[in-house]
Amino acid sequence: MAVVLGIETSCDETGVGIVSGGRLLGAALSSSMEEHARFGGVVPEIAARAHLESLVPCVRAAFERAGVGPSEIDAVAVTSGPGLATALQTGIAAAKAYALAWDLPLYGVHHLAGHVAADTLEHGPLPPRSVALIVSGGHTSLLLLGDLARDPVVHLGDTRDDAAGEAFDKVARLLGLAYPGGPAVAEAAHDGDPGAVAFPRAMLGDGHDFSFSGLKSAVARHVARAGDSLAVPDVAASFQEAVADVLTRKAVEACLGAGVDTLVIVGGVAANRRLRELAAERCRAAGLTLRIPPPGLCTDNGAMIAAVGDLLVAAGAPPSSRHLAADPSAP
Ligand code: KG4
Ligand code: ZN
Repeated sequence: MAVVLGIETSCDETGVGIVSGGRLLGAALSSSMEEHARFGGVVPEIAARAHLESLVPCVRAAFERAGVGPSEIDAVAVTSGPGLATALQTGIAAAKAYALAWDLPLYGVHHLAGHVAADTLEHGPLPPRSVALIVSGGHTSLLLLGDLARDPVVHLGDTRDDAAGEAFDKVARLLGLAYPGGPAVAEAAHDGDPGAVAFPRAMLGDGHDFSFSGLKSAVARHVARAGDSLAVPDVAASFQEAVADVLTRKAVEACLGAGVDTLVIVGGVAANRRLRELAAERCRAAGLTLRIPPPGLCTDNGAMIAAVGDLLVAAGAPPSSRHLAADPSAP
């Protein structure tokens, strides 16, 4: 069985993972999140510099945790896109250097394929057909999946404006909560009443597309109106409930519409406890099997990229060119 080293640097997490035969052997993660906090969002040049500093220590740590050395690696996989250009380039340069130095094939990996493959590390191979809901800082997509390494992905729906994670981050800012917004809103929501404010649910019953900018504006209006009497936990809980409600309803509808009995929810927002709870409830009611990776595999990491590399090697897919370039806006 091949042993694959995976490198992820598309945003603010430097992730390295080592995977073999669908099993995670070891991983390491370093985040520059705190350096971006005072800017309220990720600054690409700061992220790239942090990747440069963290990459080699993370690779060393992953080797140590996996109990393997460079001579046992059979392939190197790296995120080629989508993501921040300079951040991606840092990881790609490192991956090329390792592949060249150790004479190994190099695989450029789509970041979102990585998010989906992360689940296979926890729950094993996907069934022949499944629907994936990808909810991250940059994406909110419903996809019909076949064999990850071979079949084309069928796009069912997308957000028309903000991604779900982006909505969490923007609402956190409106509520004066820390960056990154997702975990901060979720924490504030813990003590709030999800029924306190009736925020809108956009595009329900209207196909598989999403829209979150109206919800964000509704939160902004509510905050402006409430002034000093703003109840942050109630607003956070009501906003979180609106997002989880729309995401889970539409994901279940997509499964039923496509005649698929497995739903996979991945990406940073899949770490959200309320979303996981509501998805479990609704999948149970609809007779669907739900798969969500543990929170640590939902947010960006290197293991998910190694997992795709592992699938590609097992499927006999041709490696990428040694001239692999970053594709920041990969579709
Ligand atoms: O997948 P990811 O780590 O990076 C991207 O590819 O974008 O997702 C990051 C996003 C951020 O918007 C963050 O606020 C959100 O995922 N997020 C959460 C939670 N943890 C991370 N959103 C809601 N609840 C959470 N617990
Ligand atoms: Zn991601």
